[in-house]
Amino acid sequence: MDVILFGPPGAGKGTQAGVVSGLLAVPHVSTGDIFRKHLKQGTALGQLARSFMDKGALVPDEVVVDIVASRLDEADAGGGALFDGFPRTVRQAELLAQRLSELGRSVDGVLNLVVADEVVVGRLSGRRTCMGCGATYHVSFNPPSTLGVCDRCGGEVVQRKDDEEETVRARIETYHRETRPVLAWLREHSAVVDINADQSIDAVEAELRAGLAAMGG
Ligand code: AP5
Ligand code: MG
Ligand code: ZN
Repeated sequence: MDVILFGPPGAGKGTQAGVVSGLLAVPHVSTGDIFRKHLKQGTALGQLARSFMDKGALVPDEVVVDIVASRLDEADAGGGALFDGFPRTVRQAELLAQRLSELGRSVDGVLNLVVADEVVVGRLSGRRTCMGCGATYHVSFNPPSTLGVCDRCGGEVVQRKDDEEETVRARIETYHRETRPVLAWLREHSAVVDINADQSIDAVEAELRAGLAAMGG
């Protein structure tokens, strides 16, 4: 199945993606994670992405869509994918639909994490991210067992540069201006299940499980 995990910055997409992709038995495809990997490796793509990410702006559609198209060509994505942070513009949504249709697939469902802006700001300012595997923590809501050390891989857990308050505000504005309209487009083209993401991590996970079951996943 091909499923989109949709929602504003800080909604909990990355936090919930592991469980959801496990249930669907498809890989977790996060465009933000792919860009951060390139940044860490110092590639030209990473440099380009950084110039947009640091401002809280979107990386241009052609760049993002090319990256996703090549990710879909990898063997593990042959049976579907869980998209996180993509599509973020209507153009990206249209190009994803086109690419999937060339593969004889389509978007089977959308899990839409609904949460207010005020909640999101608090989550992002306290978020910490593993430099090794990308795992996500929160200083109060979900801390690693040892301060600064990833439970999953032992990597260093730090604050993402775009989680500084000013950039967080810019990311939320970008979301409302460019990404929210994608939801209306998705509602016209596939089944969207709204999930209340302003609950504990466990309660959100339970709603996602129910949403997936309703979707047939
Ligand atoms: P990306 O990496 O996708 O960031 P984002 O969409 O801004 O989303 P986040 O990763 O910030 O939030 P999340 O929903 O994953 O929340 P999380 O689970 O971490 O994109 C970064 C940048 O890359 C963009 O700004 C853009 O420049 C570029 N980019 C990426 N994709 C692109 C695209 N398609 N097109 C163009 N540009 C693109 O949770 C947040 C915090 O809250 C954590 O600390 C977590 O522990 C905590 N938390 C989670 N759930 C709960 C809960 N229920 N209760 C309490 N705390 C919780
Ligand atoms: Mg994320
Ligand atoms: Zn890690």
